[in-house]
Amino acid sequence: MPELRGSHGPAPHHLLTRWFGTSDLQRLEVYAGKPGGYKSLRKALLDMAPADITNEVKASGLRGRGGAGFATGTKWSFINRDAPGPKYVVVNADESEPGTSKDRYIMENSPHLLLEGIMIAAYAVGANQAWVYIRGEYDGPYRLLAEAIAEARAKGYLGPKPFGKDYPLDIQLYRGHGAYICGEETALLESLEGKRAQPRSRPPFPAVKGAWGRPTLLNNVETLATVPWIIANGGAAYAKFGTEKSPGTRLLSVSGNVRKPGVYEVELGQSFRHVIMELAGGLPEGRQLKVFWPGGSSAPVLTADMLDTHTDMESLAAAHSMGGSGGVIVMDDAHCVVRAAHRLLQFYAHESCGKCTPCRVGGNWAVRTYERLLAGEGSPVDLQILDRIQQGVANGKCLCGLGDSAGWVIQWTMARFPDEYEEHARNECSVEKVAAHA
Ligand SMILES: Cc1cc2nc3c(=O)[nH]c(=O)nc-3n(C[C@H](O)[C@H](O)[C@H](O)COP(=O)(O)O)c2cc1C
Repeated sequence: MPELRGSHGPAPHHLLTRWFGTSDLQRLEVYAGKPGGYKSLRKALLDMAPADITNEVKASGLRGRGGAGFATGTKWSFINRDAPGPKYVVVNADESEPGTSKDRYIMENSPHLLLEGIMIAAYAVGANQAWVYIRGEYDGPYRLLAEAIAEARAKGYLGPKPFGKDYPLDIQLYRGHGAYICGEETALLESLEGKRAQPRSRPPFPAVKGAWGRPTLLNNVETLATVPWIIANGGAAYAKFGTEKSPGTRLLSVSGNVRKPGVYEVELGQSFRHVIMELAGGLPEGRQLKVFWPGGSSAPVLTADMLDTHTDMESLAAAHSMGGSGGVIVMDDAHCVVRAAHRLLQFYAHESCGKCTPCRVGGNWAVRTYERLLAGEGSPVDLQILDRIQQGVANGKCLCGLGDSAGWVIQWTMARFPDEYEEHARNECSVEKVAAHA
């Protein structure tokens, strides 16, 4: 049983994590013994028409938890269920965004919950085959999912006639190729097909032309793991949680300078003050909050005075950021923002797939500029260079969001901490001087 690092249990808003922590929940007979366990799949297959399932997901208002927050039911309805030939479901379990570990939390604690969500989705969109593209380094979750799939096959939930319904279902695991870009949906499809992971230009979108050119539903792990609750309780019941435009709950993985890093299920609309100061236990003794990334390292940073920003997608958009991957990274006042930005740019430059010139060139150029600033060899011109780079990379200049993410790190750390950048351009950083003498 993996160690639980976060919230679970009987709180009314623990829709996903309610049974997490139950001994052997990873085993089919334990999961199936819980209220809801595989009963939603049974209900979907035997009592619901596929269109009704999609309509229920639409009514829930669920929005994708992988990053972009696209309306899940609407995405499902893009797949033409009646078109001849195979359709597929592909599950994005690549989870490589810095600061994000919530999908792993689901797979480690309740692999059958994910499998049930996948099977319901497959039936709804007319797919008989699903793949889980799982991050290559996720050895434990891979093993647990493989065991869960074997159990589901042995029980007949996967196979030619699940619950006696003449609707063959199968799920296969595919280990990721070890790069952040593999999580971008079209690069993931390339990788799944055995090719180098590079994004495709869109349109066509995966719902029309996805894996092997076939209509493909691609969803995040958490998105699909939410579906069994919606089918059991109804879309309207789900929509009662959260806010009007960001209904429901989501998992936030909180890391960095907090006392209780972990994965917490929160009702959307809760404030980051609640998440960071209460759920994650606040900052270490004597430290002040300086900055936090509210949705993984790709989400524009927010400052300490923005702690009362709410977790729903609209509040985050109003604060010029986003909910992204649900990774909340907390940094205290002992750390230099320019150094943190350099570290992130190293990541984005390393992970650029190289297909788009602005991302391929801009990332490395930014890293070299940061290196000059941090080595005490910077000048005000370097700040102009960084600004030019972010303008050339971010905000839709590349085929996928990786370029945006790299550019936003520069853009928003510069916008929110101009003084710290200027200190580095003068070759003096007050934060690092204080830290050095602490
Ligand atoms: C560089 C990059 C990496 C991404 N990595 C992931 C990932 O690891 N997991 C994920 O679910 N979505 C990831 N996404 C978002 C996916 O492209 C896609 O929007 C998502 O999987 C759709 O699922 P959803 O509608 O359920 O959110 C990434 C996007 C980009 C641009």
